[in-house]
Amino acid sequence: MKSPNPSQLILLSLLASSVSAQLVFPNVLRQRKPIDRTQGHEQEPILNLPHVGMPASGDGDSGSTPGDPVMISDVIGKERGINIFAGFTRDIESISNRLDHGTENTTVLAPLNSVVTQLPRKPWEDPKDYAALGENAYEGSKGEDRAHRNLRRFVEAHVVPVSPWKENDKVKTLDGGEIWYETKDGKKIIQPGNIEVDSVANRVANGELWVLKGIINYSQ
Ligand SMILES: *[C@@H]1O[C@H](CO)[C@@H](O)[C@H](O)[C@H]1NC(C)=O
Repeated sequence: MKSPNPSQLILLSLLASSVSAQLVFPNVLRQRKPIDRTQGHEQEPILNLPHVGMPASGDGDSGSTPGDPVMISDVIGKERGINIFAGFTRDIESISNRLDHGTENTTVLAPLNSVVTQLPRKPWEDPKDYAALGENAYEGSKGEDRAHRNLRRFVEAHVVPVSPWKENDKVKTLDGGEIWYETKDGKKIIQPGNIEVDSVANRVANGELWVLKGIINYSQ
């Protein structure tokens, strides 16, 4: 893994010191969805690596009106402990659309911020890319595309296309891996990998939002 550049270090320390921090995926995405500064306060951009970061309001694009059923997209941005992952879901269009509509139910497995920031590499980094392309693997527009594809796999590994999801039911995540969960001492444990579910944070019309103390293995 390459060592972070100085601006990344600053952002990393911001991350470490701020619970409201979000990882910020790169510029391309910011141009598509500029940060809304009309609220009178600015959201701190968080990690300016190859990607992502939106205000935590979560319902930015949904155009929901009072009386509409509440969707995962309405609640995911409001859970402070997982707002890094929430930002990732908003950057993957197929996922953000899915979470914004009631046509398909979803169980979202959102790793805690503390888990994401402690990963040995960023979710969009793939050692194979560094091996093939060197330390500039994620620079330029091709690099951003590459990072985006990698991030997408990470997010898709945390999206279960079923809800309610029953104990011991083996399901394939959108990334294709097969997972299930069991309950031990009142706690849900996702397998394989013994990943503990911290809480079921929300149950809404199109599914559930689970908070994880680990990450699901994803294809690389
Ligand atoms: C989708 O979720 C809702 C709310 O939990 C549930 O009532 C409904 O049966 C689910 N639909 C499917 C196809 O699982």
